[in-house]
Amino acid sequence: MTTQAQATSHELPGKPTAASRTTLSHIMTGNDTNLLGTVHGGVIMKLVDDAAGAVAGRHSGGPAVTASMDEMVFLEPVRVGDLVHVKAQVNWTGRSSMEVGVRVLAERWNESTPATQVASAYLVFTAVDENGRPRPVPPVVPESERDKRRWQEAQIRRTHRLARRRAIKELRDRRAAEGMTED
Ligand SMILES: CC(C)(COP(=O)(O)OP(=O)(O)OC[C@H]1O[C@@H](n2cnc3c(N)ncnc32)[C@H](O)[C@@H]1OP(=O)(O)O)[C@@H](O)C(=O)NCCC(=O)NCCS
Repeated sequence: MTTQAQATSHELPGKPTAASRTTLSHIMTGNDTNLLGTVHGGVIMKLVDDAAGAVAGRHSGGPAVTASMDEMVFLEPVRVGDLVHVKAQVNWTGRSSMEVGVRVLAERWNESTPATQVASAYLVFTAVDENGRPRPVPPVVPESERDKRRWQEAQIRRTHRLARRRAIKELRDRRAAEGMTED
């Protein structure tokens, strides 16, 4: 963690979740398909990253980079002609990082049914300065009960991410100290 991020993150005024919430919509075309004829998962992942990046940039008031993407779940196939809506919001903020939650909905071009949720994901973005170093972000202020629940759940995921990272690092350090080598 940089000294700058540590020093000033909580001095920034808070911003409500709604201030940066964003929906990105896109019609799927034949260029987006895989060999099965449905939309390639990577196309959806790109839209998810784009929408989350827009939200992170809006919330933090500047550039932010994808630090991690986890719990990307594909629930239903997306088809050519579907109008896909990618809804993103900042769920949680740390000193320089933000968890962005994303839901992907598809309106089927040939059905007049409500949009179906087809995927979801959680991403961590880190706000960076002009030198690519972490910079402080305003604390997100959840307002609705749903946003408060999302903040609490994001805090759990954050705890697990840090614990997992620490445990893997400790394992690798231990193996290295024991002189174990790999090909
Ligand atoms: C993300 C990045 C800026 C972090 O830099 P760093 O020197 O490791 O910074 P720190 O360890 O101080 O972490 C800064 C913040 O990011 C978070 N973070 C860093 N790596 C993370 C990861 N893998 N998962 C989740 N959060 C992460 C830290 O928890 C910290 O959050 P906090 O300030 O809210 O406590 C740096 O790793 C980077 O530039 N990565 C490449 C990003 C990129 O190019 N993305 C596009 C891919 S093409």
